[in-house]
Amino acid sequence: MVESSGQIMLLTDPRGWFWKKYNNRNQTESLDLTQIEDHLVTAGFQVEIANIAKLDWTRNYRGMHILYTSSEDFNGGTKSFVEDVLLWLEKQGSILVPSYHYLRAHHNKVMMELLRHSFLDSEMKTIQSRIFPSCKMALEHPFALPIVVKSASGAGSHGVALAKTKKQFIRVVRSFSRLAGWDFAALFKIRNFLRAFKRQGPVNYHNEKFVIQNFVPDLSGDYKVLVFNDHYFVLHRKNRQNDFRASGSGQFIAIPSEEIQGVLNFARKCQTAIRVPFLSLDIGFDGRSHHLIEFQCVSFGLKALTLSTGYYESSDNGIWQFVEKQSLAESEFSRALIVYLQMIK
Ligand SMILES: Nc1ncnc2c1ncn2[C@@H]1O[C@H](COP(=O)(O)OP(=O)(O)OP(=O)(O)O)[C@@H](O)[C@H]1O
Ligand SMILES: [Mg+2]
Repeated sequence: MVESSGQIMLLTDPRGWFWKKYNNRNQTESLDLTQIEDHLVTAGFQVEIANIAKLDWTRNYRGMHILYTSSEDFNGGTKSFVEDVLLWLEKQGSILVPSYHYLRAHHNKVMMELLRHSFLDSEMKTIQSRIFPSCKMALEHPFALPIVVKSASGAGSHGVALAKTKKQFIRVVRSFSRLAGWDFAALFKIRNFLRAFKRQGPVNYHNEKFVIQNFVPDLSGDYKVLVFNDHYFVLHRKNRQNDFRASGSGQFIAIPSEEIQGVLNFARKCQTAIRVPFLSLDIGFDGRSHHLIEFQCVSFGLKALTLSTGYYESSDNGIWQFVEKQSLAESEFSRALIVYLQMIK
């Protein structure tokens, strides 16, 4: 009898999706779990596919590797459900891939920046952040300007702003920290007015967490690097017009040959520090140093994989080579996972 490499559960979100891939620039669909299952079974794993909302709550999942997906729906509603269930699974003794804290960091720059603090390599900390639970504390704090403010859950550069003056800083912080929509904010204003008459304290609706960090000048764009074990997919994104932000610009430009080796070496450093099977990195290069703008380990966009004509791979002499090949998301995903699981065994 062939010995099993272990048990893996592939856990979809409540609507049955598992991560997402791009058929073209605009159309997304779930990764094909049957393809991933085939790869894993061939590698000797016992595989189960389940919906996170329909698990058997009486069962014990101890010892099982759980490969999961996050969710990005309105106000983080489904993600909160996913977090509850995965924390329960982890508490039972199942092995989340990647670990629970990386799920918390998905769409949550506060958690991501907390994790950055624990990196030992100072090169990954050229961007230093302060995290805030509400508007009031940040406004009381003296900051050197210009400064970057980021809402915890924005994407595609929404919720990322540069404050050059004190006035801009106050406006951005007030806006990013406002948890209530405009309509509710108006109601809260009236309610707080009435509360003041009753000598009651105001309801704080500027209680959305956010991040403040140093501004890296001289970036004309950034690099999106997707790491699937030893395969590195790279897109170079130009900043939006008259803007410091590259994410969401949709302007993918040629990679300068003199920069690519440095970017990939830096990406590998990040991978070594973070140690997960798959990783998405936003890397800035200002002509002198590299800057880790962002890292994500769960349910990140796979556009760089779809749009790339190939990937980079390090050869024995340490030089990165470009392998021209259209990759399938499911194959890269499974391959990286299998290598990772064999490594941590
Ligand atoms: N500290 C910084 N200094 C200079 N530019 C920055 C800084 N942080 C971010 N940027 C620019 O702003 C863009 C958006 O920032 P970031 O990647 O943190 O958020 P996001 O892209 O909205 O989040 P996500 O990648 O999760 O969608 C980056 O692509 C980069 O070009
Ligand atoms: Mg980004």
